[in-house]
Amino acid sequence: MLWLMRVSSFFTAALLTVVLSPSLQSFPPAEAIRSSHFDGYLRFPGQIAVPDPRARHFAFRRAPLFRNAGDCIARSETNNSTGSSTVCHPSLVHIAITLDEEYLRGSIAAVNSIIQHSSCPENVFFHFLVSDTGLESLVRSVFAQLQFKVYYFDPNRVRGLISTSVRQALEQPLNYARNYLADLLEACVSRVIYLDSDLVVVDDVAKLWRYDLGGRTVGAPEYCHANFTKYFTKQFWSDPRLSGTFAGRNPCYFNTGVMVMDLDRWRRGGFTSRIEHWMEVQKAGGGLGRIYELGSLPPFLLVFAGRVAPIEHRWNQHGLGGDNVRGSCRDLHSGPVSLLHWSGSGKPWVRLGSGRPCPLDALWAPYDLYGPALQPR
Ligand SMILES: *[C@@H]1O[C@H](CO)[C@@H](O)[C@H](O)[C@H]1NC(C)=O
Ligand SMILES: *[C@@H]1O[C@H](CO)[C@@H](O)[C@H](O)[C@H]1NC(C)=O
Ligand SMILES: *[C@@H]1O[C@H](CO)[C@@H](O)[C@H](O)[C@H]1NC(C)=O
Repeated sequence: MLWLMRVSSFFTAALLTVVLSPSLQSFPPAEAIRSSHFDGYLRFPGQIAVPDPRARHFAFRRAPLFRNAGDCIARSETNNSTGSSTVCHPSLVHIAITLDEEYLRGSIAAVNSIIQHSSCPENVFFHFLVSDTGLESLVRSVFAQLQFKVYYFDPNRVRGLISTSVRQALEQPLNYARNYLADLLEACVSRVIYLDSDLVVVDDVAKLWRYDLGGRTVGAPEYCHANFTKYFTKQFWSDPRLSGTFAGRNPCYFNTGVMVMDLDRWRRGGFTSRIEHWMEVQKAGGGLGRIYELGSLPPFLLVFAGRVAPIEHRWNQHGLGGDNVRGSCRDLHSGPVSLLHWSGSGKPWVRLGSGRPCPLDALWAPYDLYGPALQPR
């Protein structure tokens, strides 16, 4: 852990230097991409606060090119004359991630981190879930070679099922899109890794892809020391018709921001409607009252807690977002790290933009593709 502390304090020092002396700002030579559609959006809150006329010229830069290592089942084997069959190629690693205006900078950094650490980046296929139009051309211009498909997720699909939660950000319909992957993605996609937008992968994602789920539908790191009781209300625990759902299980908390999902099993088991059922119970409330306070997580816990295939904790070092209200910064849990996750209310791009980053935010910054445009057009 000592090396990491050294590295992160070095990064912090370097970062402060950059923040304090704009003349030292240097970004790798890369073509800046501006999308007229997103001009309004590209002014991030933190950057508006900086009275720098150049802030108007911030944009996404083109990601570095990437290539498969020699021993990959090369992308050239895929048959590009058959168009849509590409997504069915058996050597692909499928990743689903949401793209929305608020988290776009995070999603782009996540994709960048995945292809940079993958030994077979050309074999990774991204499934982007959107509720806004116009993001497809932006992704294409940032990642020229990326294999991906964009899926429109209709917010009305869940709007009637969402109840208010303790954090407004948790009520965004796109947060619930992970429940619909089995319906949205092509039937030939039998496994997918779902990833949140506030994380970076610092290891070869193919290792996560190859996890044996041992017949389970969902794989995720489990946290059995977390107090599971607090994810549900007193009303829930006091009604055996509800809390009885956990009978015979040893339910543990898991984070739904990193999940390996067996979509064939999911489809056969009808898990989408099982999760919707609990959202209806919550929404109906009735005499019982709310059964949980958070957003899309508790229904997943209700259906899968105690039934997930445990994945090593290195694949979700979560909580790095901390609590922005109190300005607290989190440290890493001990052990090796393959994925860093800024879950919690603080986001690294916001803190970096406001010049008040947490030390570990420096580990996110190298994957950020948003910065000053070299040549304003
Ligand atoms: C894929 O298509 C491009 C352009 O049509 C062509 O140049 C390339 O040779 C094709 N690759 C394969 C493997 O067929
Ligand atoms: C590509 O598809 C065409 C048309 O379906 C087929 O004739 C050809 O054999 C395929 N090539 C490969 C490498 O799969
Ligand atoms: C777990 O959380 C519940 C509800 O917040 C609380 O009543 C209980 O004392 C906690 N248990 C432990 C062991 O901390």
